[in-house]
Amino acid sequence: MANKDREQWGSRIGFILAAAGSAIGLGNIWRFPTVVGQSGGGAFLLVYLIITFLVGIPLMIAELTIGRRGQTNIVGSFKKVAGDNWGIIGALGVAAGFIILSFYSVIAGWGVAYIFKFLTGELANLGAEEVGNVFNELTSNPIVPIFWHGIFMSMTIGIVILGIDKGIEKASKLLMPILLVLLVLLAIRSVTLDGAMEGVSWYLRPNFAAIDRHIILSALGQAFFSFSLGMGAILTYGSYLPKKENIPGSAVYIAIFDIFIAVLAGFIIIPAVFAFGLEPGSGPPLIFITLPAVFGAMPAGTFFGLLFFVLLTIAAVTSAISLLEVVVAYFIDELKWDRKKASLLAGLAIFILGIPSSLSMGVMSDNLIFGMPFLDFMDYFASNVLLTLGGLFTAIVIGWVWKTSNAISEIEKSGDKFLLATPWAFLIKWIMPVVLLVIIVNGLFF
Ligand code: PFF
Repeated sequence: MANKDREQWGSRIGFILAAAGSAIGLGNIWRFPTVVGQSGGGAFLLVYLIITFLVGIPLMIAELTIGRRGQTNIVGSFKKVAGDNWGIIGALGVAAGFIILSFYSVIAGWGVAYIFKFLTGELANLGAEEVGNVFNELTSNPIVPIFWHGIFMSMTIGIVILGIDKGIEKASKLLMPILLVLLVLLAIRSVTLDGAMEGVSWYLRPNFAAIDRHIILSALGQAFFSFSLGMGAILTYGSYLPKKENIPGSAVYIAIFDIFIAVLAGFIIIPAVFAFGLEPGSGPPLIFITLPAVFGAMPAGTFFGLLFFVLLTIAAVTSAISLLEVVVAYFIDELKWDRKKASLLAGLAIFILGIPSSLSMGVMSDNLIFGMPFLDFMDYFASNVLLTLGGLFTAIVIGWVWKTSNAISEIEKSGDKFLLATPWAFLIKWIMPVVLLVIIVNGLFF
């Protein structure tokens, strides 16, 4: 419920870092290169960049604005700006959070396992093929990856129970710049590997002929996933914003930061894939096989490998808490559970839902759903269906129910004029509902 004593962000930079903490995670470093690899390289990159600017940034502004107006969780905020019937969109967001965190934690768990494998030297100085064996042995085991998934979920639950205090904010301020420097170093190492240039050109050269409706839907799903849009995470962060905050300005910072990290991750993974003769379309395992091989080909690789997976885990945790927080806030508000009970029960249910994703890399690898392993299916369904639908409804609610003029006056409460108000309103009201619907329907059914 909205109340006068509701917490607010301490500072603008604190908010931007927290929102960037939610946005930057496995989506940038693991999922982006994976989808680029599966979608034909440069064709995807171009479509992705266009979508982030035309859909991602305008919708980030939209979510922040609904949240700041609503001053509460996703369900309550939609009810407040659009009437009780629209609370249902919130339920869609909660479902998306549930599903995404279930497989997100499995993948983050592989990263945690890698920290220990670097510590014990198991991943030291290996070539791509040997790393592939280590990876397959880990993920096809029916128990071990579930253990790491449990460890990652426990960390996430612990932080959400304690509340997101200054500790994390401070830690992110220190650690995110280190991650950035490390990514730049790795990109340099990767593009200078023998044979890497073929990958660079595959990544950067737009191949217009390869652009089809599936690539467009994937780019849309990736933009939502990476920006944490379509399920209320960014909306909730907006609900803690003071009125003086300039929403469009902040959205642009967060988005550019996020795009930059993803593109950088592409410069690490794709050239390495070509240099090591791997298959760019090989899906979720890609980064876990190429990266240690890149470390193996550089001085002090074990140290850097260790550092990298520690930072990746931290980046994943700051995203995972925003996913769990959406679900927990819903249980607290709607079912009146206390924070501890909500976090533990939701966390446990998410952990259990993650188990088939983990098993789909091994004992259940033959059980395909729509031709995909369970983990890939969960990801596809949540990102390309639920998040994109969440975005579609967000645009409809602002454009047609709450009205863009009300949204613009909320945005301008900062005292700054929203210079792009007219094109933004036009995009949200007229272009976005049609374009999103066409992309979703075409990508899914034809
Ligand atoms: N944006 C996060 C990432 O790129 O890793 C994942 C994510 C967080 C998606 C929060 C959705 C969300 F609501």
